[in-house]
Amino acid sequence: MTVEIFPSAGDFQDSIMSDLSFKTGLQNGSNVAIIKNLLTTAETLRCVRLHQALAIEGDQGWASVRRGCRDNYREIKHNPLSKVDQFCSRSIFFEWNSCIKKITDAVSKITGIKGILEGDGFVEKNDHFFQAAISCYPVGGGMMAPHIDPLDTFFGLHVIVNLSTRGDDFIEGGLKVKSNESDDFIDIEKYWRSGDAIVFNASAVLHSVEPIDAAEPSLGFLRGRYSLSVTMNRFQDIN
Ligand SMILES: [Fe+2]
Repeated sequence: MTVEIFPSAGDFQDSIMSDLSFKTGLQNGSNVAIIKNLLTTAETLRCVRLHQALAIEGDQGWASVRRGCRDNYREIKHNPLSKVDQFCSRSIFFEWNSCIKKITDAVSKITGIKGILEGDGFVEKNDHFFQAAISCYPVGGGMMAPHIDPLDTFFGLHVIVNLSTRGDDFIEGGLKVKSNESDDFIDIEKYWRSGDAIVFNASAVLHSVEPIDAAEPSLGFLRGRYSLSVTMNRFQDIN
């Protein structure tokens, strides 16, 4: 597997347009792409602050709160529908939620990348909806076990934006990916920092979040490694 680094979204788009083998490599899981500086510092901060504001808002504090698909929901507990062992806090927004307007610029940059990859079929799928998720893997062992996502979980290649920087916000751990071709995991945190995005096929590439500063004392659910992902999901999956 190769990790290809692009200085900007424009450079990534040029490769998609001019090099069919590059896009094929992304689709079959033989490579992943990093797009540097997709989000500005202000955009990454808005995402982190939105997650933190939701955590302290409301009478139930930071606990598993599901308000139905008309509003966002947030959780720290393991989702019983997920078979993947994980320790993180997460805010999830659907495209019709008001909260998402606070991070519209960040979300539209990600859907722009997905549009480049999928073309018109991406925007015309009327049985699908956008879902944005801000995740925090907390200092003191935040993690997600190695897994691949089921093929029909969401439409298109996965795009995740890093909202933290290893060395600044945490010391060790983070995203690792593994191709089908070898037993080696690639330490993605070496290649990216806050504001950078990764593009990969989550149903072909085994991926994990290795424990964040597992040996350090916990600083609560809000201090750690943050990321933002936008997926296109089927309506039937939330009913
Ligand atoms: Fe995944």
